[in-house]
Amino acid sequence: MGIREQYGPWAVVTGASAGLGEQFARQLAAGGLNVVLVARRGERLEALAKEIVNHDHVEVKVLAIDLCAPGAMEVLHERISGLDVGLFVDNAGFGYMGAMLDQDPERIGRMIHLNCTVTLMAALRFARRFKERGRGGIIVSASLAGFQATPYMAAYGATKGFDLLFAEGLAEELRGTGVDVLALCPGSTHTEFGEVAGSKGPSSGLGMKPGPVVAEALRALGRKDVVITGWANKLVGHWVGRLFPRSFITRMSGKAIRRIAGS
Ligand SMILES: NC(=O)c1ccc[n+]([C@@H]2O[C@H](COP(=O)([O-])OP(=O)(O)OC[C@H]3O[C@@H](n4cnc5c(N)ncnc54)[C@H](OP(=O)(O)O)[C@@H]3O)[C@@H](O)[C@H]2O)c1
Repeated sequence: MGIREQYGPWAVVTGASAGLGEQFARQLAAGGLNVVLVARRGERLEALAKEIVNHDHVEVKVLAIDLCAPGAMEVLHERISGLDVGLFVDNAGFGYMGAMLDQDPERIGRMIHLNCTVTLMAALRFARRFKERGRGGIIVSASLAGFQATPYMAAYGATKGFDLLFAEGLAEELRGTGVDVLALCPGSTHTEFGEVAGSKGPSSGLGMKPGPVVAEALRALGRKDVVITGWANKLVGHWVGRLFPRSFITRMSGKAIRRIAGS
């Protein structure tokens, strides 16, 4: 069964104005799904919508909204109420690098709100809708950073640990209902993430492009509960934690992130 038959006819993608979300929108449209694009930067979404319509001849709707604003979830669900949505890509999120004690508590709070509360509440709404419908898919953008502590982006890593455990738990609860849940765990990926997070140094150079990350996620949906994208990241996520003590991994992870956080 193709992706449109399995998860169509409509998909909702949050964080669609850049990076992984933009790639999800493009690849889902290429697979024949109509897409609802959600993010704050409306002009970017409009430009992407135009491109997708011309290229893939599917329907596209734009919802320029701050998902952290009060009532945002209600606005989103009101706007899609007439659409037969079968796939939700729960992807909007941001990181925050730097020494924990130097970080702005207000920004930490916003990050936790978006990466954890909004991510969970949005997934919950779609999970209920999909269960009733008897079919659907939810992809939660977690991270390789969710597998271990990440000093110098400690709070961000903790939000992604939350996303990972939440998605795995939800996947188990929904098994057999026709609703597939996937925790997407990319390692470093070339998007706007680093700039937004305040990265100051060069990244490791091992980062992936968003295209292959999204393609791997779409292949894994319905087959796995968790996907770590890329072989080097798989090695870290699946094996490093089994081979080395936790304290050693935290120290190594801190050394690597400190360089790019410029702390
Ligand atoms: N890139 C990586 O290395 C990496 C690795 C692992 C996991 N991830 C995860 O992947 C997800 C996507 O990140 P990315 O790498 O694609 O980063 P990105 O290029 O910075 O994209 C983030 C997206 O989230 C949207 N967004 C941020 N705040 C929002 C808000 N309050 N309301 C609505 N939309 C909002 C942004 O759009 P607007 O600014 O227009 O609102 C943008 O479309 C995140 O959850 C991130 O934690 C990324």
